[in-house]
Amino acid sequence: MVERVPPGSRQGAMPFQKYKPFAPIDLSDRKWPSRVLTHAPRWCSVDLRDGNQALVDPMNVDEKLRMFELLLEIGFVEIEVGFPAASQPDFDFIRRIIDNDMIPDGVHIQVLCQARKELIDRTIEAIDGAPNAIFHLYNSTSELQRRVVFNMDRLGIIGLAVEGTGMVRQALAGLKSGQVSFEYSPESFTGTELDFAVEICEAVVAEWGGTKEEPVIINLPSTVEMSTPNVYADQIEYFCRQFNDRDKVLVSLHTHNDRGTGIAATELAIMAGAERVEGTLFGNGERTGNCDIVNVAMNLFSQGVDPQLDLRDMPRIRNTVEEINKLPIGERHPYAGDLVFTAFSGSHQDAIKKGMAIVDRKHWEVPYLPIDPEDVGSSYKEAVRVNSQSGKGGIGFILEEYYGVILPRTMLVEFSKIIQELTEKLDREIQPDEIFKAFIEEYVVEAGPYRLIDYDLSRDQEEQRCDLRIEINESQVSATGVGTGPIEAFVNGLVEALNEPLNIMDYHEHAVSAAGDSVGKDGSAVCLLAIEGKNSEGPCYGVGMSKNTITASLLAIVSAMNRRWSRY
Ligand code: KIV
Ligand code: ZN
Repeated sequence: MVERVPPGSRQGAMPFQKYKPFAPIDLSDRKWPSRVLTHAPRWCSVDLRDGNQALVDPMNVDEKLRMFELLLEIGFVEIEVGFPAASQPDFDFIRRIIDNDMIPDGVHIQVLCQARKELIDRTIEAIDGAPNAIFHLYNSTSELQRRVVFNMDRLGIIGLAVEGTGMVRQALAGLKSGQVSFEYSPESFTGTELDFAVEICEAVVAEWGGTKEEPVIINLPSTVEMSTPNVYADQIEYFCRQFNDRDKVLVSLHTHNDRGTGIAATELAIMAGAERVEGTLFGNGERTGNCDIVNVAMNLFSQGVDPQLDLRDMPRIRNTVEEINKLPIGERHPYAGDLVFTAFSGSHQDAIKKGMAIVDRKHWEVPYLPIDPEDVGSSYKEAVRVNSQSGKGGIGFILEEYYGVILPRTMLVEFSKIIQELTEKLDREIQPDEIFKAFIEEYVVEAGPYRLIDYDLSRDQEEQRCDLRIEINESQVSATGVGTGPIEAFVNGLVEALNEPLNIMDYHEHAVSAAGDSVGKDGSAVCLLAIEGKNSEGPCYGVGMSKNTITASLLAIVSAMNRRWSRY
């Protein structure tokens, strides 16, 4: 039994006083809130470094190769391939892709390194011969890290960064071949006083000698996400505005997701002036992860912006990443999860069905589906799945999309109740084939007193004649009817044979899809019709399926009669 507590008695139960709010940034004339994202930033994947460092079982060289190939296929041209001075597999992998000419033209590999001579030398050994590389140097700059980890003042930290930059420049002079550009990260930027962040980055850029033509990448990490995304955007706008020689640097973002808003922070910070984004596929990374590049790219895509990454085969990308990282990607993961284009609820299904019926594939606009699932390798058919929460819209959608069977409204309302009872009884989702099977069992009724044996149609001038043989309670009865068309002639013949009324109240007939054919009753045509029920009970539906449209109609009449009989 769960203990119930009086309302309000949990106030103060959590030790919230332990934490202090993040101080807002003094930037009252901020410009970013009114900007709109109109183009993709430069993307840099850090799956092979930051993502890899966060794995329970880090990638081996073969797995790194597989991830590298996937990133190339997606279209990344900047890829952080490792931290070679800290990891032998990283070193070996980098050498392998360089020595085997596996880096396509125009692709820049990036390597991370701390500001220490022996690490810098080893890193340069790792990248020697790469056609294009980015040397990524970092040191931590936040007030907390300076005080607690390094016990250094601001000048000491600037000294580390500038000396490290100088060492990289000198060591690169001995590089045998390849072009190397430079990136600097004031790690823990979000916890760094902004004036100090600007000061240290300016000192690094001056030491490197950044130019307009060959700018230094200044990467401003939200190493630990500390506040709401608007604050990160303020920090980026402030930095961009205060930085002297802004045109000598390229501002890059690197968010983590501790508060669950890493993606939002990245988006707002691009609006605030950043030009480049570091992140991983599906947000793998330390703790709660890095910025999910797939998500940011797809958000741009959904706004009509070319994401400049090819994510059309999302299921394969997802499966590959799951296999390499050995971490699952959740069913509700934006754009990629198994359930993200799925509607179970009746009202959502109804709206999707209506939207899908009129959507123009060139201008997507369907309720509850922010993008066309087919754009990322999902079928829109999978958008609708049926459980006990579902309604007639979803059931109708499935019959129509999978089997080409279009139910008239009254019949759909009736059949939905049957499916609802079935899902409640099974206590689980039901699959399209189970829905179709239930439909056949309910409406294509051969069990009962009536069975059509055969019929013969002939025409005499204006009149249609139908000679029919029908089994009634296991005895064969022959009859003849005339009418203006075959169905009327058949009905008139039946009325005579049965000596009871038979009025058709509703009639629909159409071709069915191949799937309907294979699961159904050898038909390429389906007829759905209702005859009048007995004792003013309302319509009684029956369904016939056959390659011949007239046979389908006659079978539907006999099914309806069997169903009507079974009601009494
Ligand atoms: O999160 C971070 O700050 C980093 C840096 C090394 C860029 O990964
Ligand atoms: Zn990071």
